[in-house]
Amino acid sequence: MSHADPRLIVALDLPTTDAAWSLVESIGETASYYKIGLQLFPLGGMELCRKIKATDKQVFLDFKLHDIPATVEKATRSITTGGADLLTIHAEPAVMRAAVAGREGTDLKLLGVTVMTCYDDAMLAEMGYAYGARDLVLRRVEQSLEAGVDGVVASAHEAKEIRERFGDDLLIVTPGIRPAGADIGDQKRVATPASALADGASHLVVGRPINAAPNPRAAAAAIVSEIADV
Ligand code: C5P
Repeated sequence: MSHADPRLIVALDLPTTDAAWSLVESIGETASYYKIGLQLFPLGGMELCRKIKATDKQVFLDFKLHDIPATVEKATRSITTGGADLLTIHAEPAVMRAAVAGREGTDLKLLGVTVMTCYDDAMLAEMGYAYGARDLVLRRVEQSLEAGVDGVVASAHEAKEIRERFGDDLLIVTPGIRPAGADIGDQKRVATPASALADGASHLVVGRPINAAPNPRAAAAAIVSEIADV
């Protein structure tokens, strides 16, 4: 039996909390960290978070908060009651400062979403931004650290530069991971688990290569063994 690697986060992108819980049970001891996103949030995602936390595993709530500061602070405070380990917020300074205030006194760590990977330079210009995607990512990483946020979500392609510029302390959580030979689906820029870690990611988010595999436990075990020496 393979043991969990705390750097591997399995995305529970499934239609119901029952399906998500079945996946957690079938993966067993092979993974210890799960991501719950907006798909499950309105269907009992917070109860699922509590249930997973009751088994001593870790939970990443990928809710990407973005609202006026007073609401972000109160929402973050509410979310801390679920005992999750990680929460995403949009990496705008006022939003991040509010989330930092809302999690005060708890162990919840915050991750800034710098620039969504669905945006390119032309779309950012259309939205009124003066920076292109790369420069805006770097500026927002800097602002995340200034605000007291613990890290960022970044593609493996951005991770290396972020790690080099901002040092070893921040968390860099990287989606878009595909083991060699896996179906890349709708992801455009993918990296293997080992290369993403070598480029500076602290955690990997893996969805379909595990949650849509015929044998999710075996798929998770293969990734755990691929990264064992990295
Ligand atoms: O199935 P797959 O491995 O592509 O899932 C990746 C997970 O990471 C999904 O939950 C997706 O929403 C999330 N994500 C992403 N790209 C981002 C941010 C989050 O794929 N830039």
